[in-house]
Amino acid sequence: MAREEGTYRAQSAAATGQDRKRPQAEERGSRLVPLPTDSLIPERDAGQTILECRHLGIDFGGLHAVEDFNFMVGKTEIAGLIGPNGAGKTTVFNLLTKVYQPTRGAIILDGIDTANMTTPQVSQAGIARTFQNIRLFDSLTVEDNVKIGLHNQVDCGMWSGIFRLPKYWLAEKEFHDRALELLDVFNMADQAGVLAGSLPYGAQRRLEIVRALATSPKLLLLDEPAAGMNPSETAELMENIRKIRDEFQIAIMLIEHDMDLVMGICEGIAVLNFGKIIAKGTPSDIQSNPQVIEAYLGTQEAEDNALQGKGRRFQ
Ligand SMILES: Nc1ncnc2c1ncn2[C@@H]1O[C@H](COP(=O)(O)OP(=O)(O)O)[C@@H](O)[C@H]1O
Ligand SMILES: [Mg+2]
Repeated sequence: MAREEGTYRAQSAAATGQDRKRPQAEERGSRLVPLPTDSLIPERDAGQTILECRHLGIDFGGLHAVEDFNFMVGKTEIAGLIGPNGAGKTTVFNLLTKVYQPTRGAIILDGIDTANMTTPQVSQAGIARTFQNIRLFDSLTVEDNVKIGLHNQVDCGMWSGIFRLPKYWLAEKEFHDRALELLDVFNMADQAGVLAGSLPYGAQRRLEIVRALATSPKLLLLDEPAAGMNPSETAELMENIRKIRDEFQIAIMLIEHDMDLVMGICEGIAVLNFGKIIAKGTPSDIQSNPQVIEAYLGTQEAEDNALQGKGRRFQ
């Protein structure tokens, strides 16, 4: 891609001449620094990238669903991936988690090339995800859904499990305590015994995040976490995503259409359109990028609306 698209432009919201009301991540003190690879990461993560995608691409038949995707995420960064429906965002997550093997390019996770890894191996190596459509075990309790994530990480041994040896009970006690601790992040510990399928929609979305966290990821991928949430749930989710990053000191990469959420918590953002990155930058870089506005909205009238703060859901 053209160098200038990915280059950090030291423009504040004020410098662009736009009076933007959204509180933005960069105004909270997280500055991005450019890397020689045409990416940006937060200054505090300089030299510490958790994810590097190099010329990543996949074809479905004749369709280049993702093409020349170059993106880096810092170790404690909240990064965003946005773009119109069908742009290839979920496909990027499917590549990162090896649901699909890339047709081209490389994925480096914490310094290790994941080329030969399977989905479970990538999970072990530190990537966890939630899905665009909720995937929980509805007929299991909230606690058991979280324990599935924990069991993924710890093996107390087959024989301990079959014969219920002391080691098994010790592990079970640890899993129980840890599950409640994780649920507490979203104030859900009191719902531990409830069936996951009977939770309200917003709570199911939160539970999916807790289950993903239970695998002790280094990088958490959230695919449209605010979809279907009301504004107060979305605002709470935003705070919780930030809290997760702060408490667990992990990287989070999210796909989201809610621009208040994206611009409010993401540090580096990449915009995909027809499988290609058309812009990378800080929230204010992205919001003032004419190509981005056009990709989302297409018309001058829509652009004017966007700049006046209308049309917040860029869909
Ligand atoms: N398994 C697949 N087989 C064929 N085409 C696919 C497959 N998965 C995704 N696509 C296509 O790739 C493009 C990107 O899809 P997707 O990544 O789901 O977009 P987004 O998440 O940005 O809305 C779409 O045109 C979609 O139809
Ligand atoms: Mg999608």
